Amino acid sequence: MPQVSTCEIQAHMEVAPDHYRLVLHAPEIAQEACAGQFCMLEVQEGLYPFLRRPMCFERIYKDSISILYKVEGEGTRLMSRLSQGQTISVQGPLGKPFPLDSDVERHILVGGGIGIAPFPSLAEAIISELGTTPEVIIAARTESMLLCEDEFRQMGCTVHLATDDGSAGVKAFASEVLRELNPGPKARAYCCGPMPMMRATHDVCQDLGITCLASLEAEMACGDGVCLGCVVEANVEIEAERMVRVCYDGPVFDSSLINWSAY
Ligand SMILES: Cc1cc2nc3c(=O)[nH]c(=O)nc-3n(C[C@H](O)[C@H](O)[C@H](O)COP(=O)(O)OP(=O)(O)OC[C@H]3O[C@@H](n4cnc5c(N)ncnc54)[C@H](O)[C@@H]3O)c2cc1C
Ligand code: FES
Repeated sequence: MPQVSTCEIQAHMEVAPDHYRLVLHAPEIAQEACAGQFCMLEVQEGLYPFLRRPMCFERIYKDSISILYKVEGEGTRLMSRLSQGQTISVQGPLGKPFPLDSDVERHILVGGGIGIAPFPSLAEAIISELGTTPEVIIAARTESMLLCEDEFRQMGCTVHLATDDGSAGVKAFASEVLRELNPGPKARAYCCGPMPMMRATHDVCQDLGITCLASLEAEMACGDGVCLGCVVEANVEIEAERMVRVCYDGPVFDSSLINWSAY
């Protein structure tokens, strides 16, 4: 059973319009968490909102974790009002992490909007465990929504920027930038972002013949595989169902397992 910890907020700051970084003192979670896993946050004490909100680990430090989030609705709006020194209940780590494979020669992380959130911890894991530095494609609607560029550059990653309106980097979708990078057969792409962006990234990877690992998002209730609230359509039958649970079987999936035509 994943643990529930009461965590003190060490820092909480707005990093872009409606986007925040929350740093939590969470030694037990930090010790166990791996890049790609997530936690469920109780955004305020009491029964409202009833459900915890899933968030992945942006960074995993020795005694703390950081969460990078976008205000989407009521839960994240309440979260954005929390202050340094307050506490928040955190359940986790949950889900399966990104697999790290030393046979891969080129790791390309592709983040769309807030979908960049799991990639700083993944970049750190690739650097520390595989001894190689990933490339990162950061894509967003416009320049002010490009997140984590400085963090990736400080880690030594090559960063490619893309915006829908051309205000920074190239005016292109993330998947088009990936194709232009000419990844080669021993590359692996990792993607996270809106479903259409991940579907396009999957299609490009199929064309190029490379593996794509997608970190999916779905609305969640239990976060632990029981309620089936987070299922997405799969291409293969798993335990007699063509469905996978994002919280328990994922959130990271080989993109070829997902039935993208349903999204
Ligand atoms: C494994 C996982 C990791 C995630 N990591 C992050 C993260 O690191 N940073 C971040 O900003 N967000 C992340 N999300 C999405 C985040 O959980 C939702 O944005 C959040 O729960 C919305 O809550 P709310 O109360 O603000 O919005 P609500 O009022 O509940 O909903 C507002 C809108 O957001 C949509 N929505 C609600 N929940 C989700 C969801 N889980 N996924 C996609 N859309 C949703 C609703 O359909 C609605 O359109 C993650 C989701 C999952 C499943
Ligand atoms: S949220 Fe309950 S099974 Fe995934």
